Amino acid sequence: MGDINYEKMNIQWFPGHMTKAQRMIEDSIKQVDAVCEILDARIPRSSRNPDIDRLAAGKPRLIILNRIDLADPEITSQWRRHFECQGIRIMETDAKSGKGVNNFVPALKELLKDKLADYAAKGQKNRPLKVMILGIPNVGKSTFINKAARRKAAIAGDKPGVTRGKQWITIDQSLCLLDTPGILWPKFDSQEVGEMLSITNAIKADVLDKETLAANFMLRLRDMYPDALRERYKIEPEPEMNGFELLEAAAKKRGFLVSKGEYDIERMANTLLGEYHDGKLGRISLEKPK
Ligand code: G4P
Repeated sequence: MGDINYEKMNIQWFPGHMTKAQRMIEDSIKQVDAVCEILDARIPRSSRNPDIDRLAAGKPRLIILNRIDLADPEITSQWRRHFECQGIRIMETDAKSGKGVNNFVPALKELLKDKLADYAAKGQKNRPLKVMILGIPNVGKSTFINKAARRKAAIAGDKPGVTRGKQWITIDQSLCLLDTPGILWPKFDSQEVGEMLSITNAIKADVLDKETLAANFMLRLRDMYPDALRERYKIEPEPEMNGFELLEAAAKKRGFLVSKGEYDIERMANTLLGEYHDGKLGRISLEKPK
């Protein structure tokens, strides 16, 4: 049986500027009333800052599972239950289309209703709630904030890993968001996290061997979503095939020929990752709650 191969993947995920950003987030968290984490619904574990429980201790929390249009709905429900069991409020959004974003302000007001009552009792009716927005690069933070603010308030479309400064964004007179740079963290404890972030485009795929990444991805699809491989690439994912053999079989079906009898694995790797990015393989989640 083909196993995931990490040998050729040397993932660089913590550029120096992110250390500075991490420090800024630690300092700013003290100033806010609540912390809202935007996660990629396909990889809620890998897209989550492992330090967040410590950093945001005592603060009301909201998790937004974004990109639900690309995630497996059944697995998204499992994640919802998983986080709710930990006392964390959950929202599900597709920030690109705007689906679910309208629930954001009411959810925050409900989450912070004691604070609002406190302000009202003190006669501070117009004192805004301050909420920090956190998320890894490319998770859809700017897209989400712009939809929530109903205007272009945040810079969207950053390249993965490129940071921007923190900025306060006024949603309405009762709510201000603190947008933070998309950061990754030094404590990735496994190659698997790096792989998940690469498959979903939070880390530039060209920093590692794309073919190995795509071959490993094929193995995950074979185990979790074999029908997606049958339907999209017309291949039968046999248990004894390794990831490269699956890529080759798909390349063969697509007619990606280099020379007689030799198939273009690199082209197939790019095609597979690109089609996953575009949602053409269907709604596929890569992580389930443990
Ligand atoms: P960031 O601030 O967290 O770095 O992310 P940003 O909003 O710039 O979004 C990154 C990309 O993800 C954008 O695509 C955006 O349209 C897309 N996106 C954001 N939310 C969702 C969502 O819920 N579903 C889907 N399918 N896409 C989402 P882009 O870079 O402009 O182009 P492309 O990725 O669409 O090709």
